[in-house]
Amino acid sequence: MKILGIETSCDETAAAVVEDGKTVLSNEIASQIDIHARYGGIVPEVASRQHTLSIIPIVTTAMQKANVGWQDITAVAVTHGPGLAGSLLTGVNVAKAVSFARNLPLIGVNHLEGHMYANWLTGKEPEFPLLCLIVSGGHSDIVLMRGHGSYTLLGRTRDDAAGEAFDKAARLLELGYPGGPAIQKAAEQGKDTLKLPRTWLKGSDDFSFSGIKTLLIRLTQEGKTENKPDAAASFQSAVIDVLVGKTIAAAERHGVKQIIMCGGVAANKVLRNTLVEKSPLPVLIPPMILCTDNAAMIAACGYYRFKAGYVSDLSLDVIPGLKLPVS
Ligand code: KG4
Ligand code: ZN
Repeated sequence: MKILGIETSCDETAAAVVEDGKTVLSNEIASQIDIHARYGGIVPEVASRQHTLSIIPIVTTAMQKANVGWQDITAVAVTHGPGLAGSLLTGVNVAKAVSFARNLPLIGVNHLEGHMYANWLTGKEPEFPLLCLIVSGGHSDIVLMRGHGSYTLLGRTRDDAAGEAFDKAARLLELGYPGGPAIQKAAEQGKDTLKLPRTWLKGSDDFSFSGIKTLLIRLTQEGKTENKPDAAASFQSAVIDVLVGKTIAAAERHGVKQIIMCGGVAANKVLRNTLVEKSPLPVLIPPMILCTDNAAMIAACGYYRFKAGYVSDLSLDVIPGLKLPVS
């Protein structure tokens, strides 16, 4: 079964063809990073205009690289939330047009669920029950997954998401955009000299990253972050220690078989290595290109939703604040 995935929730225009929910036949991504870099962040209006320019070439290339025609495609899966309304609209409308014109089933996919399903594209089948750490620009969630589509939210951020914290810290330290990769790169030359406090929020699986950001602002005003590699390494260690420590603690408490991780921040090399080193349980992490926004993960998730009987109709709408369907 070959599913065409479409993803336009934020600043990446992406299309992919995935076979049987696990084999990536193509995975095309048009990044808008260079366009938004000059503003130091994503400008929603600019993002939606770029999506309309890129989407048709990206879908066409994804089909060509997968070496498939419309007759080979079983269904179209598309992100319909959460994300920027104007951005989501491009992908959803293109998916609807394809579904209508080619008489293909349409599957609306939750972007966060999509991130989780990047783990099904690793060549290994994740085993239930499992614990998933979602760390993206907008979310830091610890989710217990007992089966396909079965989610229990154990913890979430009470303020900034992990990716948002990386982006804000990078802006403060004037390291450039996007912040996550910029902090990672600067940190490679530095050491954890500032020993920032770790926000454990004992007794809860929630996270909080705004305190460390405020502290970094104060230290910068006091001139204590002039060694930028050290400041970046200190910030990165403080965030990663908490992400890894709390994820492992929750996994052990719930007796899961393994830990999986996803979302843009899961592309961070130090986070990946630390989680694998410290976890007593098996850890699965998608390759970096499948951690940041992509359409292969949407197609993979769409496959499992389709198999479970979920099909959308042409009334499918964008839901910018769509939540993970948790119990
Ligand atoms: O999942 P994603 O691509 O988009 C959202 O759904 O939000 O995540 C984007 C976030 C950004 O905050 C970006 O700075 C962060 O992921 N990110 C990283 C790295 N690569 C991307 N954070 C830390 N280290 C990285 N290498
Ligand atoms: Zn994302």
